[in-house]
Amino acid sequence: MDIEKYKQRFDQTIKSKGLSKSDLEELKIEYLGRKGIIRQLFSTLAELSSLDKKKYGPKINEFKNYVQNTIADIESKLEQNSKTFFDPTLPKLSFKKGSLHPITYAVEEISSIFSKIGFVRMSYNEVEWEYFSFSALNIPPDHPARDDVETFFIDYPKDKKLGHLLLSPHTSSGQVQEMLRLKQPPIRMINIAKCYRPNWDTTHTPMFHQFEGLCIDKGINITHLKGTIEYFVKHYFGQNRKIRLRPYDFRFTEPSFEIDISCAVCSGSGVYNGSNCRVCKSGWLELGGSGMVHPFVLRSGKIDPDVYSGWAFGFGVERVFLMREGLQVDDLRVFYSGDLRFLSEF
Ligand code: DAH
Repeated sequence: MDIEKYKQRFDQTIKSKGLSKSDLEELKIEYLGRKGIIRQLFSTLAELSSLDKKKYGPKINEFKNYVQNTIADIESKLEQNSKTFFDPTLPKLSFKKGSLHPITYAVEEISSIFSKIGFVRMSYNEVEWEYFSFSALNIPPDHPARDDVETFFIDYPKDKKLGHLLLSPHTSSGQVQEMLRLKQPPIRMINIAKCYRPNWDTTHTPMFHQFEGLCIDKGINITHLKGTIEYFVKHYFGQNRKIRLRPYDFRFTEPSFEIDISCAVCSGSGVYNGSNCRVCKSGWLELGGSGMVHPFVLRSGKIDPDVYSGWAFGFGVERVFLMREGLQVDDLRVFYSGDLRFLSEF
């Protein structure tokens, strides 16, 4: 019996070249077909003695199984290769791109609007002295105006002049520091920084952002304040928006104003589709505080109020961002929850 000879021939064919599907079909016919080698081997069994039949019968079967399994293996490999076919001429897969936090975009946009009119972007400290946050701004210790913004105090020895260390409750803390840094007007600063207050509810987060404008020079008056805020509002919110100044009371500005911006939904009329506008109710939305820098504050910054005058404003970044996008977010805390379903919308 030449089983061994046929096995060697079969193995050689398998090894010799990369077999295609049709090569395999031919091999099947040659070995396993009706007139194939294995059939022939079985038919020669008949001529053998019963002892030889017992000897060679299982060997032919073994060879048959070997041929079948080997061919099946190669077939399945070919099948898999054809599935993972790699076409190097295809264009590359694009990466899933990340994005910055929406408030980071807002900060960038606000600073670029102000840099175009010569305002220098600053970021004053998150951990600040009590003096720059309050006393230098005409809010002495125990003054009730502190209650509105009092914040988180740091466990650190008190400084004789500067007081306690605390988390800065507003960007106004940068005003006097900028005056001391530059020593001499003109000053045009836009201070954008994190602020902290002990509030935690649907409209407040303990950490938020403000941007503070400060302009000091000879002959600066309210028209400059109004013109600059109008410029910002038209560039950030749109050319059709209007502003108005409402008298208010801040310790570090005199006179002081709240600034309102006309509502985009009802165009400042307060009426939408025949009934009260649901977004603003009155035609106006509150933007933030502003005013002419108080002489006390100029003196804290070693600037002579008889020679120089200036204006300042402080607005919330989260607030202007939501106002512009026309978003009514049920819970402001979603900004800082790390929830990508919300954040990746921007
Ligand atoms: N610091 C004030 C606040 O956080 C906002 C503010 C009001 C800033 C009037 C100013 C200003 O510069 O002139 O509520």
